[in-house]
Amino acid sequence: MSGRHWTLRTRLTVSTTALLAVVCAVIALITALAMRSFLRQSLDDRLDAVADRSAGTVTRTVGKSAELSYLSAFGVPGGTVGVAVDGGSVTTAEMVSATGEAEQPTAAQQAVLAAVRADGGHYTVRLPGLGVYRVKAVRAGSADGAVVTTGVPLAAVDSIVTRLVVVELVVAAGGLALAGLASAVVVGRNLRPLRQISATALRISGRPLHSGEVSALERVPASDADANTEVGRVAAALNRLLGHVEGALEARHASEQRMRRFLADASHELRTPLAAITGYAQLTRRGTEVVGPQTALALAQVEAGAARLSSLVDDLLLLARLDDNRPLERGEVDLSPLVAEAVRDVHTAAPDHHWRLEVPNEPVLVTGDQARLHQVVANLLANARTHTPAGTTVTAAVRPQEDGILVQVTDDGPGISPELLSRVFERFARGDASRSRAAGGTGLGLAVVSSVVAAHNGRVEAASEPGRTVFTLRLPWGAPSPERIAEAVESY
Ligand SMILES: Nc1ncnc2c1ncn2[C@@H]1O[C@H](COP(=O)(O)OP(=O)(O)OP(=O)(O)O)[C@@H](O)[C@H]1O
Ligand SMILES: [Mg+2]
Repeated sequence: MSGRHWTLRTRLTVSTTALLAVVCAVIALITALAMRSFLRQSLDDRLDAVADRSAGTVTRTVGKSAELSYLSAFGVPGGTVGVAVDGGSVTTAEMVSATGEAEQPTAAQQAVLAAVRADGGHYTVRLPGLGVYRVKAVRAGSADGAVVTTGVPLAAVDSIVTRLVVVELVVAAGGLALAGLASAVVVGRNLRPLRQISATALRISGRPLHSGEVSALERVPASDADANTEVGRVAAALNRLLGHVEGALEARHASEQRMRRFLADASHELRTPLAAITGYAQLTRRGTEVVGPQTALALAQVEAGAARLSSLVDDLLLLARLDDNRPLERGEVDLSPLVAEAVRDVHTAAPDHHWRLEVPNEPVLVTGDQARLHQVVANLLANARTHTPAGTTVTAAVRPQEDGILVQVTDDGPGISPELLSRVFERFARGDASRSRAAGGTGLGLAVVSSVVAAHNGRVEAASEPGRTVFTLRLPWGAPSPERIAEAVESY
């Protein structure tokens, strides 16, 4: 398992425990080595003591065959062996058994012991059948006198050291398990504020902050924002940052509100003079007073301009109302006749396009504002009319689906450029062609579509390529009205 994806808690716990394990291993190693060297030293001291006694024996028996009576003295440890070598051959050999009895070492063992150099040094040899021994050979008196070699077993030292190592390993393993557990708990507790920070940040990042009014942002609890700890300082910094963000969002919301109010007020103020301009122009043109053809044309243009301005003002007012979340009319709307009527209207206005209608026979009901939904479909059809050449086939369809109703307007016109398509529902977004065209729109049509559909809990999507442009509205099914339920019950 790679440690890259471990949590901080796991990483800290594992690294602390690993560090502890290394320290334990070093301590165990040093203790074992020190113990081994100490025990060897004391074994050597014991060997010296026994061997020195042998020297006395040999001195006393010089000239005769050396005897090994020192081996039976009190305190000589079991397993001790001794050989006396005189004139190159072993004269006597003896071993103290574990129970204190005198035994005879084998010839092979005697040979190993006889070969030890008689310089008073300590050597380690392996005696066949007996194991590893520390040995020392002592020469009596003169340079060619008898040599007595004494050996004590190392096995005891080794077994003590082995036992020590086993005990150390068991204690260390238990200690490490406990330390690992304790460190997981302690690290977990210390990282709690960090978890709080990430949970808070996660919750805030899940909130829609890009628009609208943002109510108070959640903070990391003060208990986890202790400025005396590193993690606490991060929490405190995050809380401060959230304070600033909150202030900035409030300022943005206030400025949006001001802008909306200004737009709504300005649109409202424009409405009355526009109505007056339209009214007076119509009155003068159609009145009894005779006007010249030029004046009549000018008046018609004034009327057309005023009408376009009125529709712009109406769109702006509608958008302002929708931005303000002001409720729309809510009624039961059958989409099939609504779309059919809109197609009929546009057909009259643009007979050079081919208009096709695909609606089911049964009612397709949504809950909403009939006039606004009609405006939505009319806007899409108007776009298919104004932004495509004559002869284009436009299909308006209502397609009931399990999870909602699709209303689609498809045309086989030139399409929308990808650059414009990505922002086509933004306010005042329109193609260059529309901008330069004398009768070009304002670029609010699709923004109104998007806002009205959103107010009906629906979605709108646009897909376009040369030869095929599709606008799709997805609207939720409407709850049937009480009257309709009553009707259905009656006809049952
Ligand atoms: N069916 C379509 N085919 C080609 N281009 C389209 C189509 N529908 C929309 N567009 C492009 O998208 C732009 C934005 O459309 P939108 O309806 O928002 O504004 P508009 O039609 O220019 O003005 P308005 O609808 O406010 O009178 C248009 O200017 C046009 O360039
Ligand atoms: Mg339009």
